[in-house]
Amino acid sequence: MAQPQPEQTGDGPRHVAIIMDGNGRWATQRGRPRLFGHQAGARRVREIVEACPDLGVDYLTVFAFSTENWKRTQSEVAGLMNLFRRYITREAKALKANDVCVRFIGDRVRLDAKLVAMMDELEALTLDCRTVNLTIAINYGGRDEVARATKRLARDVASGRLDPESVDEETLPKYLDTCVLPDPDLVIRTSGEARISNFLLWQSAYSEYEFIDTLWPDFTAAEFRSVVGSYGTRERRFGAVSA
Ligand code: IPE
Ligand code: IPE
Ligand code: MG
Repeated sequence: MAQPQPEQTGDGPRHVAIIMDGNGRWATQRGRPRLFGHQAGARRVREIVEACPDLGVDYLTVFAFSTENWKRTQSEVAGLMNLFRRYITREAKALKANDVCVRFIGDRVRLDAKLVAMMDELEALTLDCRTVNLTIAINYGGRDEVARATKRLARDVASGRLDPESVDEETLPKYLDTCVLPDPDLVIRTSGEARISNFLLWQSAYSEYEFIDTLWPDFTAAEFRSVVGSYGTRERRFGAVSA
């Protein structure tokens, strides 16, 4: 018997954020080193970005490296940093051709100067692109982001540019790395783990969450379309009651 299709009640998500998890386990299942999984994971990103326009997803944010991921072995961290450089070199042309505006969030201070220069270059190259906004989180942690934002806010108070009495819920987001982005409507985490791991803590206060078992290197555009499609069946109440 055919399964009843869920009724579509809302619009699709405008901003989807993804915690791309499970690369290590994917590699281990194949008897390969963890970096092999990261390489396969990096190759998945293009297909997901290219699926966005048809789905009405204007903003895609992906978690690539957390402030906690420095705890991994030196060789895994170095391999990931290399991979980010290779990703930028390999994908820059296609991103520009597909009209994808790329931004990076996270603290750049701890990143290698060469990588930071490449990130800056890719942002500049795609600055005028409009079809999709791709945000890549590298050395990103939600708590670290709020702490850095608070530091800048405090400086503005100290210098007299900001009246502390005026600080409200609208003030802090202006200091976050994501200041130009809308809040994510939908956060997807792959690999079966049901936690946030310090991703977009402030911004996802009212996001819908989808935790799916697929390991990131196996996540396809078809599954992405299906997860984004099921979002339309959810009712977002934001604390109010149903109409
Ligand atoms: C996600 O995959 C990528 C990064 C965190 C850099 P993992 O490397 O966390 O993969 P698992 O969770 O160990 O399988
Ligand atoms: C979250 O995954 C970070 C990224 C996907 C980049 P982790 O694999 O680092 O998270 P934990 O350690 O399982 O919480
Ligand atoms: Mg993981």
